[in-house]
Amino acid sequence: MSLTAFAVSSLILAGCDTKSEQGPPNFAGDAKRGMALIKHYGCGSCHLIPQIAEAKGNVGPPLLHVGTRTYLAGFISNSPENMARWIENPQKVLPGNAMPRMGVTPQHSRDITAFLYTLK
Ligand code: HEC
Repeated sequence: MSLTAFAVSSLILAGCDTKSEQGPPNFAGDAKRGMALIKHYGCGSCHLIPQIAEAKGNVGPPLLHVGTRTYLAGFISNSPENMARWIENPQKVLPGNAMPRMGVTPQHSRDITAFLYTLK
């Protein structure tokens, strides 16, 4: 199965789970879809991410409890809006940092943020 087909089927399966955890209130992002998107974009090659078995990277910080962390990249205060901005383009937020721009769309960055905010 191609990566795209895998991602699409993951999204479809994700849509079936009505008991999924919710992201932050008043924030338009789908946490279940975000989980599938993290696999799709390969964030796990650099980050350890709870609940995502293949995400065991150790290039960047582990995203344990990232939903309750005070600062992102030790630089911007952690809010859903700031996290989505970071995921969409970390080089715009903090030029020269080690996380590359991954080509994440604005809606996808909101879905991923919704999932990461379930990690309390
Ligand atoms: C090539 C490695 C790499 C990839 C791929 C990568 N990141 Fe990162 N990420 C980093 C590094 C390095 C940092 C730390 C940057 C800093 O502190 O200046 C970071 C920081 C972060 C942070 C802030 C964490 C904190 O506590 O400060 C979040 C959230 C994050 N990444 C999410 C993601 C997501 C979501 C993806 C996939 C779309 C992703 N990253 C892909 C390397 C990567």
